[in-house]
Amino acid sequence: MLVAALLVGGVGGAWNGGLAAADSADDIRERLKPFGGVCRVGQDCGGLEGGDVAAVSAPAVAAGGTATELGGQQIYDQFCFACHNTGVGEAPLFGSLEQWQPRIDQGMEQMLAVSLAGRGLMPPMGTCITCSEEEMRAAIQYMVDGAQ
Ligand code: HEC
Repeated sequence: MLVAALLVGGVGGAWNGGLAAADSADDIRERLKPFGGVCRVGQDCGGLEGGDVAAVSAPAVAAGGTATELGGQQIYDQFCFACHNTGVGEAPLFGSLEQWQPRIDQGMEQMLAVSLAGRGLMPPMGTCITCSEEEMRAAIQYMVDGAQ
């Protein structure tokens, strides 16, 4: 939001200046130049708020990336480890190809369905009730990889 405001403000300023003092199309193009392309983080964007834009947009992107999705291992360590590392209630053990193979044979969609809905002592979502389907998939994939 802030980034958009800065950019719009910048373009607006240059545009007005261009109209007021322009005497040729080339002049206008020259004045608008910094805004003609994408101003990337770390680039000199014509000296106009380039640094500010970089400073504002970089952390915003980084925060968005980490807040939305957990990796398979992170989810496993946080939510699945307690049962799948001990085999409690007959949970297929992490690292045991013997116990995972029949499940791998049934396919990811079947394992995902059981994980989402729960079965026996396997709780729905493996207790990660805030996990998305994609995150569950990643956690299962992590266990499947661990069993190879
Ligand atoms: C409270 C213990 C417990 C927790 C926590 C747990 N599980 Fe399980 N899980 C089980 C048990 C018990 C089974 C065996 C269920 C069965 O075969 O009926 C199982 C089975 C599974 C299976 C095999 C399903 C199939 O098709 O046979 C998958 C995949 C799985 N769990 C994924 C996960 C994931 C991913 C997490 C963490 C997000 C998780 N589990 C957390 C107990 C748990």
